[in-house]
Amino acid sequence: MSFSNLFRKKSIAQIQQDAASGYSDAEIIAGDPKLRKTLGVVDLTSFGIAAVIGAGIFSTIGNAAFDGGPAVVFLFIFTAIACAFSAFCYAEFASMIPVAGSAYTYSYASFGELVAWIIGWDLLMEYAIGNIAVAISWSDYFTGLMRGYRVRIPEYLTMDFLTARRGFATVTDLLASGNTLAQIEAMTDIGPAYNAYLAWTGAPVLFGGVHLVCDLPALAITVIITTLVFVGIQESKRASNIMVALKLAVIFLVIVLGAFYINPENWSPFAPNGAAGVLKGVSAVFFAYIGFDAISTTAEECKNPRRDLPRGMLYSLIICTVLYICVALVLTGMVNHKTLQVGDPLAYVFGPNGVDISWVSRVIAVSAVIAMATVLLVFQLGQPRIWMAMSRDGLLPKIFSSIHPRFKTPWFSTIVTGFVVAIPSLFMNLKEVTDLTSIGTLFAFILVCAGVLILNESQPEVERRFKTPYINSKYIVPALLILIWAAFFVFKREAVNNFFSITDPTDATLGAWEVFSHKIPLWLYILSTPVLAVVCFRKNLSLIPVLGVLSCGYLMTELGITNWLRFSLWLVAGLILYFVYGYRHSKLNERTLEG
Ligand code: ALA
Repeated sequence: MSFSNLFRKKSIAQIQQDAASGYSDAEIIAGDPKLRKTLGVVDLTSFGIAAVIGAGIFSTIGNAAFDGGPAVVFLFIFTAIACAFSAFCYAEFASMIPVAGSAYTYSYASFGELVAWIIGWDLLMEYAIGNIAVAISWSDYFTGLMRGYRVRIPEYLTMDFLTARRGFATVTDLLASGNTLAQIEAMTDIGPAYNAYLAWTGAPVLFGGVHLVCDLPALAITVIITTLVFVGIQESKRASNIMVALKLAVIFLVIVLGAFYINPENWSPFAPNGAAGVLKGVSAVFFAYIGFDAISTTAEECKNPRRDLPRGMLYSLIICTVLYICVALVLTGMVNHKTLQVGDPLAYVFGPNGVDISWVSRVIAVSAVIAMATVLLVFQLGQPRIWMAMSRDGLLPKIFSSIHPRFKTPWFSTIVTGFVVAIPSLFMNLKEVTDLTSIGTLFAFILVCAGVLILNESQPEVERRFKTPYINSKYIVPALLILIWAAFFVFKREAVNNFFSITDPTDATLGAWEVFSHKIPLWLYILSTPVLAVVCFRKNLSLIPVLGVLSCGYLMTELGITNWLRFSLWLVAGLILYFVYGYRHSKLNERTLEG
């Protein structure tokens, strides 16, 4: 094994040539001339919105608002800016390399094979694990909706094991401190604990005392969506366009109608738990923005990908940002943020515990079910196409790029994606999967931004139909870093002291190691920023990608050491697979030999 082989790159010219030849390799028929190029800029923007607006705004925003209060809106703004930097870079790549692999293919061209593999593996977190999160949220809304229609699915078939066990513990504590079950049921600030208690106590107990708790609706929706994706892009596009129109209409309804019910007292205090409370929502809020990048996986089904993909990504991000900021303001203005720790906050604020307009609550619940289905759809489309690209390069077995003769979709990859999402969605917990999705996606964003910087240096001659506007970072980045630090020392002494402290003022139960270890990613980040500043100074790097790296890097540091460890384990597992299979079967081996 040669070390340099690990970083062998696919030149952009080579990627473009492969794409033009229609991947005419006998067993790979993805480039079959019958593969329809049907997507235009409106479809792509619609796919972008389809992928972005989903569980984040219909569900996980509830917890973020609970922790951060109305100030969560700042997090929405900051996250949108971080995403915008990355969106520029994705757009530049998409205009240069219009093939299905998205960040995987971009990394192959900029960093070489090993990093490309890592990104391909990492994207599983964004697409497949992200979809597990969406399927779980979908199930929350769906079961709530069914309850409204008095269709009662047993609780133990509607949630994951961990939620049920935690809820059982919470309710048991409340019972022990003298509350009755009826009182606990009426409590609005204990989230899903009461239903979780019912799930735990009602679940059949299996051999070994294991409670059978699983999320059946999450499994069912994954199977349905996977089937749709399996039968064709055309069908998927039609379904998505209709569903997007509907969900936009409902989000408008929430904003316009909700605005009449805002009670400004709910905005005071605006940041009840300070910056620490707001930052607890990083993962949930970032999760809400994920998806605009997913449209790059449909590059080979676009009529004019080099022009329309950049537009589709940027338009969908802008539209979603405006809507999100409005929704966050309306939601926290309508009710006290402490009541928002529910799985279906948008329906909740219009329900009996909110302003009590039951028809609106029902409309929202129905449309949330539809809205989240579109996210599932786009991600279920995206994951197989990334595997298809990896398989064409030899990094996965050929069957992953095999196209169904009748439906013209990567059938095997689609089925595998179905299993990879459906089975874990039965058992996994929403918070855990959201965190994993966010950390994995942020990592991909950072590499895409860094990839643009590298290609600016190494292949400046390649034609880019869209170019990230160049602003020299030479003085701006060092000055910005100094300013941020100075501002912290002058205005936020307390935050600086907390940072160096080994106790957590918001949670006295945490031990010194827990507090310190949580900050390790942030320490590493802070230590690396002067290095980046020096590189900017010496190499005149382009500002937007640098800010993308810095802002996404910062968001990653807020996700906690446990997620970093899980993420690292995930990458190690991926590396093992690469050395066992990908390295040996890489197409670049053949090319090296031929060359
Ligand atoms: N942004 C997508 C959602 O919120 C993943 O569901």
